[in-house]
Amino acid sequence: MIKLDITKVAPFVSAETVNALSARVAEAQKSLEQGTCPGNDFLGWLHLPSGITPEFLADIKATAATLRSECDAVVVAGIGGSYLGAKAVIEALSNSFQWLVGSNGPAILFAGNNIGEDYLSELTTYLKGKKFGVINISKSGTTTETALAFRLLKKQCEEQMGKDVARKVIVAITDAKRGAARTCADKEGYKSYVIPDNVGGRFSVLTPVGLLPIAVAGFDIDQLVKGAQDMEKTAAAPFAENPAAQYAAARYALYTAGKKIEILANYQPKLHFIAEWWKQLFGESEGKDGKGIYPASVDLTTDLHSMGQWIQEGERTIFETVISVEQPEHKLLFPSDDENLDGLNFLAGKRVDEVNKMAELGTQLAHVDGGVPNIRIAIDRLDAYHLGQLIYFFEKACGIHCQLLGVNAFNQPGVEAYKKNMFALLGKPGYEKETEAIKARLK
Ligand code: PA5
Repeated sequence: MIKLDITKVAPFVSAETVNALSARVAEAQKSLEQGTCPGNDFLGWLHLPSGITPEFLADIKATAATLRSECDAVVVAGIGGSYLGAKAVIEALSNSFQWLVGSNGPAILFAGNNIGEDYLSELTTYLKGKKFGVINISKSGTTTETALAFRLLKKQCEEQMGKDVARKVIVAITDAKRGAARTCADKEGYKSYVIPDNVGGRFSVLTPVGLLPIAVAGFDIDQLVKGAQDMEKTAAAPFAENPAAQYAAARYALYTAGKKIEILANYQPKLHFIAEWWKQLFGESEGKDGKGIYPASVDLTTDLHSMGQWIQEGERTIFETVISVEQPEHKLLFPSDDENLDGLNFLAGKRVDEVNKMAELGTQLAHVDGGVPNIRIAIDRLDAYHLGQLIYFFEKACGIHCQLLGVNAFNQPGVEAYKKNMFALLGKPGYEKETEAIKARLK
């Protein structure tokens, strides 16, 4: 089970201050559980893990098996919550040199998360002549980035493989009724999955949105779900035994003490995209009404040689949350060297991970001395089971913390601002008035 250590926030906010929040945290948990919080029509994620059945997982695995047997590559088209969870888990579980060593299944590629012409051009060039499938993921079914990529990929897939095969290797994950992705899936007869109405994008990794791409990549979705199920129980416990509740309380105490930026740090490069997923989860859920902790991230020790200076001595408005993996999957010892020209014989015979752990400990002490509160989240191993735990842990903590902040965790009204301007600039039908207004502003 995840171990949470908040003792290193004590020099900045006392344990009493954090514990004093337990009653408010309990209220927050109750308002989630009883559906009385703002955005209460989006609470489906709360009991998602325990509601997942073996039949549902078998269906996902069967679809994944079809894509794995039919395709050399599978492109996952989606953005935000329709992309980051799958990307995060796949990166965390894959070989660091996957693109060189290959895998025993199709290459998993991502699109629809940007509008880079070079990106899409290079992707479609790579796919030329290949047997590829597409998982088109969009809850609204109308997101421009994803729809653009899907239009290109659908056409290419049909041209290269014929319409009948394309129908077998294109899968849609979208709303039950609404949106262009649903209309297209129904018309073409694609295999499709429904994103439940009451689960928002950034809380959807344990729906087909995350589970199907992860299964196509060959990873163990049974264990991922099992980890989330176990954490669902733990994160429902009273404050003293509930790491998600304690993490939320520590964050809130730090925020009210002026620590407005949280830096999620890892010491395993494979966790880079877990941080990207976490940033979206917390950033889009909290950042509204002029409130919210700004979620940032670093990969360590890499970024100690770039952001380390800022963290050590910059403005003291930050705190750090470290994800630490107790046991690496591999064992590698530093060799001894007769000449010892690099002076590293004092490390001979030690595991690389021992050095990494000492870097982590040394950094924690230095940062705390430098005025940076430290929260530590330890997981035993970087495997599907522990990632399942970590995902649900963060979701629950996010839900609780948003109640403490007094914001609706489950909407994202601010995301519309750029879309409105972009559509006005592009002259989208229906935006005539906005087009006129924006052109006048730009004169
Ligand atoms: O968390 C969210 O709701 C968003 O980040 C969405 O996931 C993102 O905007 C993509 O939306 P959609 O799935 O409708 O294409």
